[in-house]
Amino acid sequence: MAVLPIVTVGSRGDELLRRPGQRVRDFGPELHALLDDMLETLREAPGVGLAAPQVGVAQRVAVIEYPADDEDPESPLLLFEIINPEIIKAKGSEEGQEGCLSMPGLAADVSRATQVVVRAQNRHGEEVRIKAYDWLARIFQHEIDHLLGVLMTDRADQVYRMQQTESGEWEAVPIENTLRAPTPSSST
Ligand code: CO
Repeated sequence: MAVLPIVTVGSRGDELLRRPGQRVRDFGPELHALLDDMLETLREAPGVGLAAPQVGVAQRVAVIEYPADDEDPESPLLLFEIINPEIIKAKGSEEGQEGCLSMPGLAADVSRATQVVVRAQNRHGEEVRIKAYDWLARIFQHEIDHLLGVLMTDRADQVYRMQQTESGEWEAVPIENTLRAPTPSSST
């Protein structure tokens, strides 16, 4: 396994973050190595979700690792490897503040569904269905967006720069959202 470099907005190769990933058809050793490397990269970061375009691979692959009970830090971590995922049901809506490993130092208020059903394939190509609620549902939506070339700032109601105060605490300072995906325009 290896820790892979994470592509960040504004760095070399960041156009991949704006491109939809390709459907995976080969569930062989190459995919398994990618998944293993992505998990190691996610843990090293550390983060709760990582999509293949964030490590320079234009494929519909993401890994998520999150506590089974998000109010109990001692609870076991659940690992999800999702390949060719699709949200087939979404319910509810809640705003929450997200971060992204490809946008270090930024946070964004994004409205997301509070319940989702995700249909995906596992590393062996078998179909899986995952029902997720609240913060885990948010992570699934954020990662699946990455596989469509969509970033949190595209959906953000407000973007923040994270800043450390003199006492060492982090605060979110509202900034203008200059990172929204450019919308095609016919104006000159
Ligand atoms: Co992200």
